[in-house]
Amino acid sequence: MGIRRCFVWLGLSELLVVIKLGTLVSKWVFFGWIFAQDRMLLDFPLLALPALSVLLFSFPFLSSMAQSLPRDGESPAKQDATAPALRIPALITVVGVALDTYLTLIYTDPGYLPLFLIVFALFCFVLWFWQTRRKKTSVMPVDNSRRRGLIRTIPVLATALLAPTAWYLWSMQASRLPDRIPMMGDMTDSMVGNMMGQQSQQKMISVTELTGPKSGEPDQRFTLTAQETQVQLSSGAIVNAWTFNGQVPGPQLQVHQGDMVEVKLINKLSREGVTLHWHGLDVPNAEDGVAGVTQNAVQPGGSFTYRFVVKNQPGTYWYHSHQASQESVEKGLFGALIVLPQNDSFTGKDIPVIAHSWPTKKGSTQQAFDTFDTLKQLSVQPGTPVRLRLINTDSLPINFALSGTPFKVIAIDGADLNAPTELTKQRLLVAAGGRYDIQFTMPDTAVSLDWLQKSSKVSFLLSQDATASAPALADGPVFNPATYGSPLKTPLSLSSRFDKEFTLVLDDMYGFYDGNMASLWPINGKVFPNTPMLMVREGDLVKVSFVNRSWMDHPMHLHGHHMLVLSYNGWPVTGSPWWVDTLNIAPGESYEVTFRADNPGIWMDHCHNLNHAAAGMILHLGYEGVYSPFEVGSGTVNQPE
Ligand code: C2O
Ligand code: CU
Repeated sequence: MGIRRCFVWLGLSELLVVIKLGTLVSKWVFFGWIFAQDRMLLDFPLLALPALSVLLFSFPFLSSMAQSLPRDGESPAKQDATAPALRIPALITVVGVALDTYLTLIYTDPGYLPLFLIVFALFCFVLWFWQTRRKKTSVMPVDNSRRRGLIRTIPVLATALLAPTAWYLWSMQASRLPDRIPMMGDMTDSMVGNMMGQQSQQKMISVTELTGPKSGEPDQRFTLTAQETQVQLSSGAIVNAWTFNGQVPGPQLQVHQGDMVEVKLINKLSREGVTLHWHGLDVPNAEDGVAGVTQNAVQPGGSFTYRFVVKNQPGTYWYHSHQASQESVEKGLFGALIVLPQNDSFTGKDIPVIAHSWPTKKGSTQQAFDTFDTLKQLSVQPGTPVRLRLINTDSLPINFALSGTPFKVIAIDGADLNAPTELTKQRLLVAAGGRYDIQFTMPDTAVSLDWLQKSSKVSFLLSQDATASAPALADGPVFNPATYGSPLKTPLSLSSRFDKEFTLVLDDMYGFYDGNMASLWPINGKVFPNTPMLMVREGDLVKVSFVNRSWMDHPMHLHGHHMLVLSYNGWPVTGSPWWVDTLNIAPGESYEVTFRADNPGIWMDHCHNLNHAAAGMILHLGYEGVYSPFEVGSGTVNQPE
């Protein structure tokens, strides 16, 4: 290769390395060290050091060679092109870049990363040893004959093709998850043993013992029967739905705070198991309805009864199956769950609006409010107080606009906001699985709630008569709960003394998972079932920091507890106390939340983009002294996601 070309190639690779490191450093500067840390630790030995060696050895060597050549000369002597000063840095740069690209794109358990670095270091050393020795003994004439060249190339090519193929097939196989994964994972032996040791007096409690009241006459009794039903959307589109009691959304369960509630679940589906999870309601663990964590999925023909007392949490919730939830929720196994305060004084229109994307029989997806994928209309007299309970049952955040009237956001995820003020034209971004309650007084003109999408919108028009025309679309900024309303004197803040602190870094990668090559959504570099449990003790004040380094939103949902948001991108929350059970963390965002560990059990903590949960974005909150006897996996009846 000519000197000039050598220069160009090496220069280009240096440039790429600088760009890669530059982006990392800017992530560090703009978002924080945590957005770059482990990648920096990888890129330094794999990219920066090799690039430096090119700068220190190859470039000076090339330029001195260029100077020693006659003016019109182009090609350096053969043995010079193989000089170690040129070759070694160039080769380790190429291998470093390849390895780094692989590790950036393909999911590798963080435990293996040091191994990769050691292998790379060994490679560099062997290369150096071999090249310098070869240089000394390089008296053999270089053989240029084509045949000799071919004979040498064929085995090299064959290895280059076969080795990755073999590695690919092996990794695919090796990624298969076991048929049966005990919920307590590795904990069953080591940690549980340990815990037993520490608390030898105290016996371990099974989640199945953490039930609601076993006896007593319930205040409210419901029966929900899961069955396959063809339902029709308002446009006429047909959905082969999985329903509760033949309707989608399922029946609205309305209860009062303090009620003892009993719900009997009957499964009449032909093949899929079902459970009932009360999304956002902090029930005793055994009533939480997660297949493989708190119970076995109810099989076709079977039934299960849930009993719990509704805590002091009036507000908007929803229920859904937590067995194969990705498919079950999409197909309709969900409904609204409304908890009214004990003395409900609201006399206006109280309207739950469930926003859902329905998979139609024809294979398309129809966005709808309940089953209205065409205009939904309601006549409301001017002066009437209206409360809309927005429920997002989809896997992506929903962008709502309320147009034609000022309004207040009075509650988020079932928790009332303190001193909400009037908003005009602001848009509302509701997390997947999240709820916003908004309130306004019906004006003389029409009001419209729209679910905004790129090319279309789903609309709900409230007006005095059916002929009213829609108001101009609200086009303000996105509502920010962090600065809305007024603070209460809560004893909890960033300066509270926390008993446990966890950081959860949400990421995206490609990788082998359960025998497939797929998009993976790791938490702290790990996917379920390798993600360790967050272990707490009853009574602990827990702080969790979420950091999203990936390119998609992650609505993180913690079962059984409500989290108080403390800060948003490093800024303390200045508005009303903002309690959530499902917090959307957008790309590049970070949040700090806190909660009191006051509901013993084994609780799911996962992304409510249910596709992400199914691709690994799951972990569990575990209480010391509590274990789950259940298992998940293809060899069991339980696939919670
Ligand atoms: Cu809405 Cu783990 O669920
Ligand atoms: Cu996610």
